[in-house]
Amino acid sequence: MCFKRLCALTLVLSKLLSATGRPVGKPAASVSRQFNDSDIYANWPTYDQLPLDPSFPTKAAWGVWGATDELGALNHITPNTIKAARNEIGAGIAISLNLEMNIPNPPLNPLRPAMLHAIVPFQGYQDDIISLNTQISTQYDGLRHFPYSTNNRVSTYQFYNDLITFEDIVSPDHIKTLGIQNEAQKGIAGRGVLLDWGGWKESRNETFDALSEVNITSSDLDAVISWQGGSPESFIHPGDFLIIRSGFMKQYLQLPVPQEQVLPFRVGDDAAWVGLEPSDDTLRWLWDRKISVLGSDNPSVEKSPLIAVIGGVERSLHQIFIGGWGLSLVEYLDLESLAETCHKLNRFTFFFTLQNLNMAGGIASPPNAMAIL
Ligand SMILES: *[C@@H]1O[C@H](CO)[C@@H](O)[C@H](O)[C@H]1NC(C)=O
Ligand SMILES: *[C@@H]1O[C@H](CO)[C@@H](O)[C@H](O)[C@H]1NC(C)=O
Ligand SMILES: *[C@@H]1O[C@H](CO)[C@@H](O)[C@H](O)[C@H]1NC(C)=O
Repeated sequence: MCFKRLCALTLVLSKLLSATGRPVGKPAASVSRQFNDSDIYANWPTYDQLPLDPSFPTKAAWGVWGATDELGALNHITPNTIKAARNEIGAGIAISLNLEMNIPNPPLNPLRPAMLHAIVPFQGYQDDIISLNTQISTQYDGLRHFPYSTNNRVSTYQFYNDLITFEDIVSPDHIKTLGIQNEAQKGIAGRGVLLDWGGWKESRNETFDALSEVNITSSDLDAVISWQGGSPESFIHPGDFLIIRSGFMKQYLQLPVPQEQVLPFRVGDDAAWVGLEPSDDTLRWLWDRKISVLGSDNPSVEKSPLIAVIGGVERSLHQIFIGGWGLSLVEYLDLESLAETCHKLNRFTFFFTLQNLNMAGGIASPPNAMAIL
C-alpha cells in the first residue's frame, strides 16, 4: 500500500530502473580517469593500462571519458581538430562516400530484409516511404549495436560504460541512452585519412580474394602509409576519421548478378571477407592513434568470420571497438571515387563530414558521409 503521490513516484522510479535494478545511464562501476578539461589527454591510459578496472571486460575503455560518457571516441573531435582540418581542403572536390541505399542487394546477411521503397503518388505532388534495416548498406554503427558478450547470450551483454542493459534497449519506455541521436547531435567533422590497402596490394601484384578470410595487419597499414608517402608515426592525427579501403566493394560491384544473388547463402565460416586482423597488435595500433571513427568499404571493418582471442578471451573487434571504446564503425563505404581522386592528387587526407539520422534511441544510421579535398 502507498499514498497516491508516492505510488506515482515509485512508478516513475521503476521505469527509470533497468532490469539490473540500476538507474538507466548510471554505470555499474564508476572507476574513471582523472580529468583535466584544459588537456583532454592528461592521464591518458596506454593500451596496456586498459581496462581501468579489472572488473571491466577485455581491453574496455570504460571510464576513460568519464563514467557516464555516451560519446566514446567522438570525444577526440574538438574545436581545434575541426579548425585544423580546414587546411585539408585544396582542390575543391567534394565526394560522397555512400553507396546507393539498396546496395548490396540482396543484403549479405539473410536475416536482414532488403530495403522497401514505395512511391506515394498524390495529385500534384509525390511522396515516398523508405523502410530500411540500417545494417544493409553504408552504415554507421552506434553504441547500442554491439555489446560485449562472453557467450553470445543476452544475460552476459554489456554495453559501453555499462550504462544500459539489453532490456533497456528493447523496453517500450523510450529509453534513449547510447542511442544514435547522440552521434547525430554531436556534429561529426574533421580530418579524414584514406589508407588504400587494396590499391597497395594491387601495386605489388599481390592478388587476393576479398570474399575470403584475409587479414589486414597493423604492419600492412604502416607499409600502406609509407607507400602513400607518409610517415607511419605522424600520418594519423587525434580526432581523425580513419578509412581503410580493403578492395571488398570493388570486387563485389564486379560480381555477376547470379553471384550477388547467392552470396547470402554462405553461412558460418564460409561467410568470409577481407578486413582488419583481430589481434592485440591491431588494437594497440589504433588505440595509440586516438581516431574518432573507423571506416571501411567492407561489411564489418574487421575480417570475417568475426572471431578472435584477445587477452585469452574469445572476442570480436566489434565488441572491443563499440562496446569497449565507444568507437563507431562505418561499413560498406563507397571508396572507389575517393581512392581514384586521392591517387590523382597524390593526397590521402581531406576534410570530412558525417551526419547520422537524428533518431532517438536508434542503433545505426546511414552516415551521409562526404570527403572534401
Ligand atoms: C591541466 O592541464 C593544464 C595544461 O596542460 C596544466 O597547465 C594544469 O596544470 C593541469 N591541471 C591539473 C590539475 O593537473
Ligand atoms: C606487376 O606486374 C606488372 C605486369 O606484369 C609489371 O609490369 C610490374 O613490374 C609488376 N610490379 C611489381 C611490383 O612486381
Ligand atoms: C587472421 O588473423 C587471426 C588473428 O591473428 C588468425 O587467427 C587467423 O588465422 C588469420 N587468418 C588468416 C587467413 O591468416
